[in-house]
Amino acid sequence: MKLNELLGTEFPIIQGGMANIATGEFAAACSNAGALGLIGAGGMNTETLRQHIHTAKSLTDKPFGVNIMLMNPCADEMAQLVIEEKIPVVTTGAGSPGKYVAAWKAAGIKVIPVVSAAVLARHLEKVGVDAVIAEGTESGGHVGELTTMALVPQVCDAVKIPVIAAGGIADGRQLAAAFALGACGVQVGTCLLVSQECPIHENYKAAVLKAKDNDTIVTGRSTGAPVRVLKNKMSREYVRLEKTGIDKMELEKLTLGSLRRAVFDGDTATGSLMAGQVAGMCHEIRPVRAILEDLMAGCKACVAGLEA
Ligand SMILES: Cc1cc2nc3c(=O)[nH]c(=O)nc-3n(C[C@H](O)[C@H](O)[C@H](O)COP(=O)(O)O)c2cc1C
Repeated sequence: MKLNELLGTEFPIIQGGMANIATGEFAAACSNAGALGLIGAGGMNTETLRQHIHTAKSLTDKPFGVNIMLMNPCADEMAQLVIEEKIPVVTTGAGSPGKYVAAWKAAGIKVIPVVSAAVLARHLEKVGVDAVIAEGTESGGHVGELTTMALVPQVCDAVKIPVIAAGGIADGRQLAAAFALGACGVQVGTCLLVSQECPIHENYKAAVLKAKDNDTIVTGRSTGAPVRVLKNKMSREYVRLEKTGIDKMELEKLTLGSLRRAVFDGDTATGSLMAGQVAGMCHEIRPVRAILEDLMAGCKACVAGLEA
């Protein structure tokens, strides 16, 4: 089954929930453009999430979902809120949503956790989730170790539930590759950062547009919380200090509030400009609809080319 059939969307594409970026307005715009829009609840509290859900409901009659980061202190309340608000799809990051799955399933919610290894996918299938998002280390934001190319087929082999590929997908060739690896659809983040509708500061967008293929770096490998961001003063300094074995608290001083500085203030020197390795493929600011149509048309052309 293709992802669009599973979700009731036009395209087999999910807009990744991005903390501090994926607002109710942005999620609604992505849903209206044919993807499944997600509100990124990381960085929100329960009341803020409720307001974003109401905003999204007022702007679209298409399905949209919520991404809950399980380490969020409000995760328990948010888990209840998505039931009250009759949200059709919930994706989760940073661990196993096991304790919420029974209640969400009873409420008819489709549960789709993000995984970075086949072992977690196998465990979650037993817990009863509907699908998994296998996210490779190419992606922007929090990352695992395995690449999309290595991870997706191994997750597909490990489980019978649908697998959605994420990480390193910004054009039709990569969408076709994701299908070839066994995925039923994809989740994208970085290529939507440069959409017209994306509410990040224009300096952040300009930095993504300017990035080349090797302009990202992973901070936090030494602390067990690796995050892929664009190279800048802050991230270079962070990685330099990590190599000296400096105390974790000192490192945290650099990243405290850094995503908000990037997203809201456009601080490209000390902000955390989360973006994936495909930033180097993002060359212009376009409406979400144009980005999605390009992904679909490029995929079709790529498959036709392979068959020829
Ligand atoms: C700026 C940014 C913030 C992100 N924040 C989150 C998040 O809060 N929760 C989550 O599950 N994934 C998050 N992600 C990952 C995306 O949902 C998506 O899986 C990823 O961007 C796909 O890879 P790509 O960046 O190569 O397209 C984030 C990605 C980016 C680029």
